[in-house]
Amino acid sequence: MMKADTSAMPRPDTRRHSAQYKRGATGSRAVPICTAVAGAVALLAACGGSSEDLATEQAALVAQGQQIFRFDAFGDEAQWTDTLRIHEVIRTAVDPVTALSVGLKVDAEALPAAVVQGIQNGSVDLKSPATTVTLLKLNAVVGLKGTVETVNGVETLTRVGITCALCHSTVDNSFAPGIGKRLDGWPNRDLNPGAIIALSPALDAATKVALNSWGAGKFDPRHNVDGLSKPVVIPPAYGLDGIHRITFTGDGEDLAYWNRYVAVAEMGGQGSVSEPRLNLTIKNGTQDLVSAKLPALQAYQLTLKAPTPPAGSFDAVASARGKQIFEGAGKCVTCHSGSAFTDANTRLHPVADSMAEPESPSYASRSATKQYRTSPLKGVWQHAPYFHDGSAATLQDVVQTYNTRQSLGLSAPDMADLVQYLKSL
Ligand code: HEC
Ligand code: HEC
Repeated sequence: MMKADTSAMPRPDTRRHSAQYKRGATGSRAVPICTAVAGAVALLAACGGSSEDLATEQAALVAQGQQIFRFDAFGDEAQWTDTLRIHEVIRTAVDPVTALSVGLKVDAEALPAAVVQGIQNGSVDLKSPATTVTLLKLNAVVGLKGTVETVNGVETLTRVGITCALCHSTVDNSFAPGIGKRLDGWPNRDLNPGAIIALSPALDAATKVALNSWGAGKFDPRHNVDGLSKPVVIPPAYGLDGIHRITFTGDGEDLAYWNRYVAVAEMGGQGSVSEPRLNLTIKNGTQDLVSAKLPALQAYQLTLKAPTPPAGSFDAVASARGKQIFEGAGKCVTCHSGSAFTDANTRLHPVADSMAEPESPSYASRSATKQYRTSPLKGVWQHAPYFHDGSAATLQDVVQTYNTRQSLGLSAPDMADLVQYLKSL
């Protein structure tokens, strides 16, 4: 195990005062109660609004949440610019070809016609960092928020921060590989966050080695808190409506819990988060740029549906047989139950129920619950590799692992059918 010196990492001001924790101190207080409960028919009269008013309000909240998800850095430029100096690296060394090679994505819809034409006819230089700066100015690099100013007559990137979309959005490659329309909620499994952070001139060699070992599609959201280094795959942010255990380990009951955690503890946003189960309180800066945004952010995330499988991507007849195995001999339904294929709302599971365990260090042991949540399976076709550590490369691997570890005695055709069923979800 690599022992990283994390002293130079963007370790937040981590004070251990569990008494400061207040469950009520979420952003939900920051919006009018009628907005927060939009849709709750019983309160209609109390709010004095018609259902149309509420629907309009809800739509506005969702639209605001989309902007936050895509473009809000919560003031985390303090971490990415002032501490890590990533803006210096981008403006001098990261041309668009390099940016795409570490998994960054470009939003084709943010590109003006002249730039599109320039990319097509080769007059826009994709080997120049200045082009990256232009793309940032256009707000076209998914998940990066840049401030571009004219310094001595030159367009210069002066600040950069990150947004939720960096890890939880990708593009449909409709223009070119890595360039296309945004797909919010789809995990960016090409993104190599460790390699990107390791570009910082502010980090020591040992930290860079640890960060570079994580690989594409993975991030360790506990690293800067406990100093250990074992990443998890970036999960989808879609398909979570109605699920009240959030994260692989079910740490929070609603999305806003983790949204606050990640905005402050990982992204470096201005605000605070407390988690008494980890004896953790983090406060960045003096203002709170997170709390008031949480209701809208959550409202938007709840609209993100798991994508349906592409036509022809699975065999319907085999899938129907696979369903019988899922519910019968495979015993999958004992945990992957209900419409979201998870028992998350009733229970979490001991460490041994994860087919990725035993692992060292155990991810569960670093979490607030020390247990695992049964993963929801809607859209599971979309986001290989599987299990929190990405140890199963394909759905075949998943099924094979269960069959062996649980001694299910499934035949090869049974397993093939079960895979077709998983692909259909
Ligand atoms: C650097 C990459 C990165 C960024 C940026 C990021 N996340 Fe995540 N996110 C992760 C990883 C990795 C996990 C898995 C952590 C876990 O489950 O323990 C995760 C987990 C989640 C989950 C839990 C999903 C589930 O299945 O329960 C949600 C929701 C989420 N993130 C939303 C957000 C939001 C909202 C933002 C912006 C405020 C954000 N994330 C920013 C990497 C990132
Ligand atoms: C005892 C409860 C339990 C049973 C039975 C069970 N699972 Fe799971 N499943 C889990 C848990 C917990 C996880 C999360 C493990 C992790 O990420 O470490 C999971 C994860 C998965 C994943 C990975 C999802 C992702 O997003 O990475 C798939 C696919 C899956 N299970 C399919 C199945 C199939 C197929 C069966 C039946 C052969 C099955 N499971 C049986 C509890 C269960």
